[in-house]
Amino acid sequence: MSEPVRFVSRGQVVTVGPDVPHTMTVLEYLRLRLRRTGSKEGCAEGDCGACTVVIGEAVYGRLRYRAVNACILFVAQLDGKALFTVEDLADGEALHPVQQAMVETHASQCGFCTPGFVMSLFACFHHGVTPDDESLKDALAGNLCRCTGYRPILEAGRRMFEIAREDRFTAMEAALLQQLGQLKRTRMLRHSTAAGDFLAPRSIDELIETLETLPDGKSWLLAGGTDVGLWVTKQQRQPRSIVYLGRVAELQQISDDGHAVTIGAGVTYADAFAAIESLHPDFARMVRRLGSVQIRNSGTLGGNIANGSPIGDSMPPLIALGATITLRGRAGSRRLPLEDFYLGYRKTALAPGEIVESVTVPKPGADSRFAVYKLSKRFDQDISAVLGAFHVKLDGGTVREARIAYGGMAAVPARALRAEAALTGASLPDVEAAVAALAEDFRPLSDMRASAGYRLLAAQNLLRKFALEANGQRIRLEAAE
Ligand code: FAD
Ligand code: FES
Ligand code: FES
Repeated sequence: MSEPVRFVSRGQVVTVGPDVPHTMTVLEYLRLRLRRTGSKEGCAEGDCGACTVVIGEAVYGRLRYRAVNACILFVAQLDGKALFTVEDLADGEALHPVQQAMVETHASQCGFCTPGFVMSLFACFHHGVTPDDESLKDALAGNLCRCTGYRPILEAGRRMFEIAREDRFTAMEAALLQQLGQLKRTRMLRHSTAAGDFLAPRSIDELIETLETLPDGKSWLLAGGTDVGLWVTKQQRQPRSIVYLGRVAELQQISDDGHAVTIGAGVTYADAFAAIESLHPDFARMVRRLGSVQIRNSGTLGGNIANGSPIGDSMPPLIALGATITLRGRAGSRRLPLEDFYLGYRKTALAPGEIVESVTVPKPGADSRFAVYKLSKRFDQDISAVLGAFHVKLDGGTVREARIAYGGMAAVPARALRAEAALTGASLPDVEAAVAALAEDFRPLSDMRASAGYRLLAAQNLLRKFALEANGQRIRLEAAE
């Protein structure tokens, strides 16, 4: 029996019935069904930010505002949340401080990108992002504008805080939290439509049972949808059913026992950020360059790991840190080193009916040196050409243990075993034997992001860079790094 999806918009509970297909995106729903055309479609793949909307969720009794891309978010993922779109901001003739600031700083020309920028700044407005340039640039890295050159938009980001520090939504939060409380579900959402079903189990047992009832190959697991969303919008694929992990309580947990951090597969990058930073600041710095704020607000570590892209950014640092992954299926849980999860290009060790439950990452010790370097054409919102992650344990200047992993160098994220062997026992920064061994570890490909020759030389130079930095010198690469 199908149940309506329910979310809050403009103070009203909106119910979405079976006439809305399970793979209709929020952007399509806004524009085609609600005729709210303020949110624009530029790319339909999470890249341009023109479709940015803000999701409100009750977190520890407070309303948390997060900018997301409506073009790769399915309507049923709104269930139990609040949705803010650009049409909601002004109060009659009175502009919102963000809108006022955009007008005063002339931050719009053709205006196509403007609603997306306004919503990204609206999210900033509500989590009090300090208006320094770095945090504003970070908040806006997922919004592209081809007209203004961005300076006036950054100025609007600073100006909005001079106009006001609070808006009318702050005063409405208590009522909205109460409404969201009334939408809480006690059992799985089953949004059944003519096109297919959207199922949102609430526990890992319910998830495993649900997967057992679905025909193999006809259903998709959905976490943040930042890969899956494009299967619908760009590849025009359609699943018979979608099983959404975003409501499975156990997958949203993070635990830290002081020696290791365990991150549930459903935890978004945004929510995992503090835990990742506790593993190593370098890892957090790299995650800050994974996608944009909108992507990190939706995308999950579990999705990155399970997607198994050869250029998935989270896996090499996790492998270098010695992470293990816990898989869960009907037969219970099993654990394996993350590097053993990858069996070949887009082939993982997941058995039918199994899911990724969590990833456990040991914290590097005092004798450890760790670094991760992402090389991509653009600093922000770009896929890696090469990503290198290095972790050594030192006795003085001598390497006692070494773990090296790369993305972009093979069909899977992989360790450089020969280079590790050559590095063990070496005295930093002399790593030339390990640099030479890399040429035996990898036969990289050429593609639109980099040539094979560039990839190998870059991988070798990243190892040299790591050796110098682990030995106390700071080297800045000219290219975006
Ligand atoms: P989803 O899209 O929900 O799922 C991805 C895959 O994993 C699907 O096959 C799904 O079935 C499977 N899956 C998800 N969770 C589980 C689970 N628990 N168990 C088993 N299977 C599961 N990636 C990078 O590495 N670096 C980048 O810089 C980067 N930039 C991006 C920029 C844009 C604009 C976009 C759209 C994507 C980008 N990505 C990037 C890719 C994507 O954001 C990441 O791979 C993200 O981590 C996927 O997580 P998700 O939760 O959205 O996964
Ligand atoms: Fe480009 Fe959504 S339309 S990010
Ligand atoms: Fe034209 Fe930004 S104002 S794209």
